[in-house]
Amino acid sequence: MGEVVGAGILAHVPTIMLPEHERRALNHGEDFTIGPALTQLRHEVFETLDYDTVVVLDSHWFTTVEFVVTAQDRRSGLFTAEELPRGMCRIPYDWRGDPELAFAVERVAPQHSAWITANDDHFLPMYYPPINLWTFLGAGLDKRWVTVSVAQTGEADDFLRAGRAIGQAIAETDRKVLLIGSGALSHTFWKLRYLRDHEAAGPEHIFTPEAYAADLERIAWFTQGDHRRVLDTMPDFMRFRPEAMFAHYLMLAGALGESDLTAPGRQYGEYENSLGTGQVHLWFDRPEGGFPRPQASAPEPNYDRQRAAMLAVGAPGAGPQPVS
Ligand SMILES: [Fe+2]
Repeated sequence: MGEVVGAGILAHVPTIMLPEHERRALNHGEDFTIGPALTQLRHEVFETLDYDTVVVLDSHWFTTVEFVVTAQDRRSGLFTAEELPRGMCRIPYDWRGDPELAFAVERVAPQHSAWITANDDHFLPMYYPPINLWTFLGAGLDKRWVTVSVAQTGEADDFLRAGRAIGQAIAETDRKVLLIGSGALSHTFWKLRYLRDHEAAGPEHIFTPEAYAADLERIAWFTQGDHRRVLDTMPDFMRFRPEAMFAHYLMLAGALGESDLTAPGRQYGEYENSLGTGQVHLWFDRPEGGFPRPQASAPEPNYDRQRAAMLAVGAPGAGPQPVS
């Protein structure tokens, strides 16, 4: 039976891809800790654990009518970021995919009333979270990498359901997986005319003191393993606009048992500002005996009704026919 053998909430900020002299120029002569921390994580975890596949829950990849899981056999090329082309330019990447796992996620999704499709189109665009993280954590290690989008029309319950489907598929495909929710905590950028006053790492640059406090609260809960509290207070945290509605974490939690999850987080590097947003790396080691299994999902009547109608007319994206 497959399982998640390590999980993390990891930042992917463009700063980490800049040359050191440029990083120091932005931060009063000091380096940011968030890049070197990934190198440390690579040495301590990614180069030492036994695993097959890295799954990245990508808070920059927004899809609209469903979650999408990448199912290519391999992805390679040069990546220039549409968002910041001078900062992330012609970055080489080359990794094996995991089509079996991706299609397994699609297959089990209806059991969680989750709209998820696998996609193996080699022209599917790429976003910089997996590129940046693979550069630090994956290059040269020849592991499989899979990325998962965020349905931008989803809500917290949808993110948990998608995560449960991912967790179930991992178990059923016999994979050892490192699961990464890649994104920030509070996430409001300074407006352009003030932006360059807030490029340094210090938390005084976080957009508001209240957002800073909310981030610190959650980092404390994560390091204590109090995932229940993080989940229970999501409506409050949404006031501080966590990146991608915090879907990268909610999907991770869904795969790992949600409130049953008590794994404490180990922080790599400092909590740092990036243009007003709150950035941190937290790593959750596999507890003795393993992470909790994904919870079962209660049926969702809208899903059942819409899917039945789609299956009746052969509409695409309905997922596999139910086994009768
Ligand atoms: Fe981001």
